[in-house]
Amino acid sequence: MAYPNDFLDELRARTSLEAVISRKVKLTKKGREHSGLCPFHNEKTPSFTVVEEKGFYHCFGCGAHGDVIRFVMEDEGLPFHEAVQKLAADVGLPLPEFSKADLEAEKKRNSLYEIMEKAANWYISRLNSEEGKGAREYLKGRGLSQDTTQRFSLGFAPGRYTALKEAMMSRGIKEEELLACGLLSQKEGKDSIDKFRNRLMFPILDVRGRTIAFSGRALDDAPAKYMNSPETKLFHKGSVIYNLGGARKSAFDSGEILVVEGQMDVIALAEFGFENTVAPLGTAVTENQLHLLWRIVDEPTFCFDGDPAGFKAALRAMERALPLLQPGKSLQFALLPRGDDPDTLVRREGKESFANLLRKSLSLADLLWRQLTEKALVKTPEQRAGLEKVVFTKLSEIKNEKLKSYYRSDFGKRLNRLFRKQYAPKGSIKGKFTGTRNAVRPSGLLQTQIGRAQGDEAVATFLEEVILLSVLNHPKLAVDHFEDLSAIPFKDQDLGALQKSILDFAHDPKTPDINNLKDHLLKSGLETFYRRLHEKSTARNVKFARPETSFEMAEKWWHKTLERLMQISALKKDYEDLEQDYLENPSEQKWHRLTAIKTEINKSILNDEFLRDYDLDSMAGSTI
Ligand code: UTP
Ligand code: MN
Repeated sequence: MAYPNDFLDELRARTSLEAVISRKVKLTKKGREHSGLCPFHNEKTPSFTVVEEKGFYHCFGCGAHGDVIRFVMEDEGLPFHEAVQKLAADVGLPLPEFSKADLEAEKKRNSLYEIMEKAANWYISRLNSEEGKGAREYLKGRGLSQDTTQRFSLGFAPGRYTALKEAMMSRGIKEEELLACGLLSQKEGKDSIDKFRNRLMFPILDVRGRTIAFSGRALDDAPAKYMNSPETKLFHKGSVIYNLGGARKSAFDSGEILVVEGQMDVIALAEFGFENTVAPLGTAVTENQLHLLWRIVDEPTFCFDGDPAGFKAALRAMERALPLLQPGKSLQFALLPRGDDPDTLVRREGKESFANLLRKSLSLADLLWRQLTEKALVKTPEQRAGLEKVVFTKLSEIKNEKLKSYYRSDFGKRLNRLFRKQYAPKGSIKGKFTGTRNAVRPSGLLQTQIGRAQGDEAVATFLEEVILLSVLNHPKLAVDHFEDLSAIPFKDQDLGALQKSILDFAHDPKTPDINNLKDHLLKSGLETFYRRLHEKSTARNVKFARPETSFEMAEKWWHKTLERLMQISALKKDYEDLEQDYLENPSEQKWHRLTAIKTEINKSILNDEFLRDYDLDSMAGSTI
């Protein structure tokens, strides 16, 4: 029943939001705002604010947001018109007169809710009756417990053409009302018949727990496996989410909500303790549904089936979300193994394994990147520019400016990395970076590394390897220079893992002995990395990193190498920051500075002294 806007404005104007809220929440004044502990979710530090002059409250924790009427509705669980009546009575504002038509419409809607409730109960009674035997067996076969069946109010629609119709009409409900509820369907010139026949029935509830529609799963091989109620006065498919009411509390508490494709998935996950699961109703997720989800958590996790259709659905959700992203508000994507849906996966592999899969969710940015570049080839300048265009055009769909600029800079970096990878430069390090002829040929492996990544990255990795290999061959280095070693930000993850384990070892130095250290690393599961260093790295050719070198010598060169690594890292960092800046906001001046830093990097690492120190000269032509 719609109140006139004038009346509602008057009501809001006469009511003090702060007074109403402070009956429930202890508020403290902070500047123009009041804040306190949010009544809509559990929290220990206040993120709930009340802005009296604008007439709204907002919780930065759970996203609860609204005016005084909404507050009363949510807080006391009242429908809109009752909240209005209550507030109006408080301030002595007389309620507007409603036209007869208004009142009729309202009454009609209420009676539709009642009819839906009756139908839901009748479907439940059928499931428990003799004719529901097959359906009960079906449920059992799918592993659903009695308890779950009841919790989700599952029912059964018999196969007869007018079973529901007759049962409802015998209770005095009119045919036209059943039609308005979408419970009957009627073809032109024919008698109406039950819409749902021989189906397992899932009532769809609104957040206040009222039945507003049904979804029915075929128990025979009907052409449509699932069928939903049509749009009615109560049911607007695009703004309803299956089990949102049931999932809300645990979603608030855990800060996570899972979005799956089907109601069977919702139910299976709930059985395994993932109560915070919802599903859109057989359609691509809508803008409205996304907003509903974001009111509850920052990053809903979409877990769609591990088939091409599921992946497509995930992409569609991403596309829909892209323009709507806001600071803090995004999506996560858990990709299921091929051939599984959440229902089959959690039943086969169990709770832990599903939780693991959730932990490995992709961010929206990662999924988008994957989609944009999975098949991209960027081996020519034209292809590079083409991909850049596609990527930046896509990003321009993001409406939030701040976020858009972060996406641009993030994707700019990713593009650069991709180009470097695919533009595998050929030739020697020296030739490439100093522009001189191939006066020096680096060893085969270093060359390969350079082929794969950009030269300075390969050199940095090389230096990282030299540092660690020296430590493996002279473990006392780790004990004597524990601080230095722990401060190295290894870019290479494998090497980073070795570093950590070596530090563990050095923390408790028995005898810093080569074999002890080796045992420790093998026991920590790092054998592959250990072997990589010992058997495959270019660093193993560096004389002073070898075990037969004296400790003094090894130590002296260890420091020198560390110094070089730090210097390159610092220059590279400068380069990357500036590059970022350049990508967002290119200018010729920045370009010159970039080139200058590049030259400096090259000079510092690719001079004759450098090559000689690491014996890269003499390795020229050696085959590894
Ligand atoms: P699926 O075909 O993946 O079904 O459809 P499911 O959830 O695995 O169902 P079971 O396990 O076979 O019972 C996923 C969702 O898509 C909608 C339904 O909401 C379904 O839950 N759907 C599917 C339809 O709306 N109509 C259909 O014909 C099929
Ligand atoms: Mn399924």
